[in-house]
Amino acid sequence: MSFKGSLKKSHVVSSEEGYNKYATAYDDSLGYLNSFENDVLLKFFGDLRGKKVLDVGCGTGRIIHDLHMAGAEVCAVDLSDAMLKITKKKFPMIETAQADIRKLPFENESFDMVVATFLLVHLDKLEEAFDEVNRVLKVGGEFIVTNINQKKAPKLKTKDGETVVIESFYHRPENVLNSLDRSFFKIDKEEFVYDDKVWVNQIVKAVKF
Ligand SMILES: C[S@@+](CC[C@H](N)C(=O)[O-])C[C@H]1O[C@@H](n2cnc3c(N)ncnc32)[C@H](O)[C@@H]1O
Repeated sequence: MSFKGSLKKSHVVSSEEGYNKYATAYDDSLGYLNSFENDVLLKFFGDLRGKKVLDVGCGTGRIIHDLHMAGAEVCAVDLSDAMLKITKKKFPMIETAQADIRKLPFENESFDMVVATFLLVHLDKLEEAFDEVNRVLKVGGEFIVTNINQKKAPKLKTKDGETVVIESFYHRPENVLNSLDRSFFKIDKEEFVYDDKVWVNQIVKAVKF
């Protein structure tokens, strides 16, 4: 490996380490992040009154307010303690837990809906995560998942002035659909958000059958 190559490699950090460092700066980009959804998510949520919803990889709770407004009883989990701490501060009334999407601390068939936004980009393989989401969903429950078109991880500036690059993986849209299919989901709806004719975000509603 070249010197340049090894320098580059040591720069990339795991999701947990990266988001623990970047957490306090995350909300500075909320407007930019929201633009990847263009209100499509709201349509996908529908009426959630009386529904139990898990926001997995919740980060700093960016979508929790919308889930609340739609009537959901929200539970939120994230791998990063620092991200979760911010969510807890903003939404002290909701149940939270530090957890990996591949090993969720919930019983089978606990939720009516699971939502995962901007998370797939941090997962190397999708099947294990999708199988676990399927396990915690009730039959007929919905999985709302987004997949951003990101081939190269951005350099993120922390509040301490450090630059972090968080380990990321690109997933082709058809790969997301195929993986959902393999984990026993039926695709109900798929929509793309575009920026200047290039897709920037794939938003899917899949149903457990
Ligand atoms: C880009 S942020 C998205 C946060 C939030 N969902 C949003 O839309 O703003 C990705 C989040 O996923 C979390 N994450 C990464 N890998 C994870 C995993 N395997 N299980 C659970 N959370 C994970 C990170 O800690 C981070 O908070």
